[in-house]
Amino acid sequence: MMVVELIERKRDGGQLTPEEWRGLMAAYARGDVPDYQIAALAMAVFFRGMDDAETEALMLAMLSSGRRLDLAHLKVPRVDKHSTGGVGDKVSVILAPLVAACGVAVPMMSGRGLGHTGGTLDKLESIPGFETRLTLEQTAQQVERLGCALIGQTGEIAPADRRFYSLRDATATVEAIPLIAASIMSKKLAEGLTGLVLDVKTGAGAFMPKLDDALRLARTMIALGERHGCPTVALLTDMDAPLGEACGNAVEVVESIEVLRGGGPADLREVALALAAEMLLVAKVTPDRASARAKAAEALASGAALAKFREIVQAQGGHPGAVDDPVKYLPQAPLRVEVAAERTGVVQRVEPRIIGRAITTLGGGRQHVDDPIDHAVGFLVHVKPGSAVRPGETLATILARDATTLEAARAALARAIVLGESAPPSRRRVSHRVTSGGLEELTGPGAS
Ligand code: URA
Repeated sequence: MMVVELIERKRDGGQLTPEEWRGLMAAYARGDVPDYQIAALAMAVFFRGMDDAETEALMLAMLSSGRRLDLAHLKVPRVDKHSTGGVGDKVSVILAPLVAACGVAVPMMSGRGLGHTGGTLDKLESIPGFETRLTLEQTAQQVERLGCALIGQTGEIAPADRRFYSLRDATATVEAIPLIAASIMSKKLAEGLTGLVLDVKTGAGAFMPKLDDALRLARTMIALGERHGCPTVALLTDMDAPLGEACGNAVEVVESIEVLRGGGPADLREVALALAAEMLLVAKVTPDRASARAKAAEALASGAALAKFREIVQAQGGHPGAVDDPVKYLPQAPLRVEVAAERTGVVQRVEPRIIGRAITTLGGGRQHVDDPIDHAVGFLVHVKPGSAVRPGETLATILARDATTLEAARAALARAIVLGESAPPSRRRVSHRVTSGGLEELTGPGAS
């Protein structure tokens, strides 16, 4: 295969055939095509785009570069959720045990940090001993036994996407609808699901900040899911500010456990309950959204979701103390410094991209694929757009390893939290529901 000819064709606005994509992705997964050629191709796709048929061809090529999880023998529905990525987005940590506690099998496969966004795997690995690299056989056994596994993409599932994902992160080619859609759906279709819920983020911290682009991304992924036998629904949720207060790794696990205990920040709880309800609906275990929400809320209130999380942590080698006493067992940053408002005002913006990049500066994200992560560092952002503050009131807490990164984080916070005089327009946390049948604007609980 002359890879350079394929790059040239894409660069000049042409298309690759399904056979060419399959051959290329198989060769890439084997290590037979160098990263620099795939990087050039990704940039050509970024500028030239791909139509639906070519997007499907890339998705199938990445899917067929690996194996599939076979859970067809299970008697219960198998549903997963995937987010397009954000800052403070720890919803997966809450959702997997919550929905499993409601009787649905959740083989949840998550990713690492990408661009300015955090990754569920990095968050989970802040739990001492927690192993996310399960084989497909181990995953199937655990899902059979506990109804849930929280795993990473090993070399077995869509390995071409695994390499491509890190490469896109390093080459500024993440923000392309066909590439995001093919990446997400290649992994999700390998899980052998009976239903999928997508959390498509919009706003400044999303890969698709504009509503129209987010809708286009949602529709592209839904079409891919439905064409390949997986009923797929998307909720559009707000990522114009970090979700919840905690932004980092260990600190996000702590906040997830607060929600699993029935507390936690209102915005995070709302988004988690809305997505949980959609998962229960797509699993057909409840007749309507109101009863799905009530079932999910009851699993939080009764402690069933927290108990399921404890079982999963133990099964995957994590220290169970981390669930019951997270402050004692999860890594803590040596420096914990509060930053206060200098004047009276109303918060206009909390810029998620600035916060996300500052986490990397603190050591909590990667600049290079193999960089180690400092799980202890990050932020607690105590204010939201619309919060009224007075001089001396705490805006955020920085969790840092040393004085140099602390000062860089302080400077980033000063740019991220913008004060003004009057309340900014409010945004709905969960704004739209998209299915193959159409678009619904949401106005009930969770749409606030
Ligand atoms: N999540 C993925 O799995 N892939 C992307 O390209 C973006 C978000």
